[in-house]
Amino acid sequence: MKGAVDLQGLPPADMPEVAFWGRSNVGKSSLINALTNRRQLARASGEPGRTRELNFFNLGGEIRLVDLPGYGFAKAPKKTAQVWTRLTEAFLKGRPNLKRVYLLVDARHGLKQTDTVMMDGLDEAAVSYQIVLTKADKLKTAEQDRITATTLGQLAKRPAAYPEIIATSSTKKTGLDDLRDAIAAFTTE
Ligand code: GTP
Ligand code: MG
Repeated sequence: MKGAVDLQGLPPADMPEVAFWGRSNVGKSSLINALTNRRQLARASGEPGRTRELNFFNLGGEIRLVDLPGYGFAKAPKKTAQVWTRLTEAFLKGRPNLKRVYLLVDARHGLKQTDTVMMDGLDEAAVSYQIVLTKADKLKTAEQDRITATTLGQLAKRPAAYPEIIATSSTKKTGLDDLRDAIAAFTTE
């Protein structure tokens, strides 16, 4: 594992990477822990704005998971939040070995305004991304299906959006195998 606070601190672009992005507190670090069966590999917290640097986790020397700082955290000092966002965007747009961004969205809330702004940036830069619903344990299956359908409709005209949504729960450990399979496909390309 390696943490980066600036572009100079990034590890070499020598293996495929997938990045986890989304609003602050949406569950990025928790999902990385759940995927890798580690309790605190990525630091998760109830306090929004926990992840303050780009954290890289090497999986079996074949692929790297990247835990990104969240956006839309109103309580962070504005300057600080801008620095995180600028670094994250520079990474997302300039990383040649980045295979996909998993854009995490709270299953209870669906896409928020800030998510659509970030998606606009990814579409413009032609960076492939896929929506992953988090905290699905907080919803009944019927509600999950409804939010999935609504969100899919919102992706329809977005060129870089992958047209499938994976619903996950890090606490109940659901949807993880679907996501693992999707990620594993990038190592065999
Ligand atoms: P930042 O690093 O601040 O951007 O946050 P993050 O997106 O990494 O979120 P983090 O994983 O730290 O989780 C935020 C809070 O949501 C914590 O209190 C977690 O316990 C909780 N949480 C994360 N995933 C789930 C989930 O699947 N279900 C439920 N019920 N809670 C979750
Ligand atoms: Mg985090």
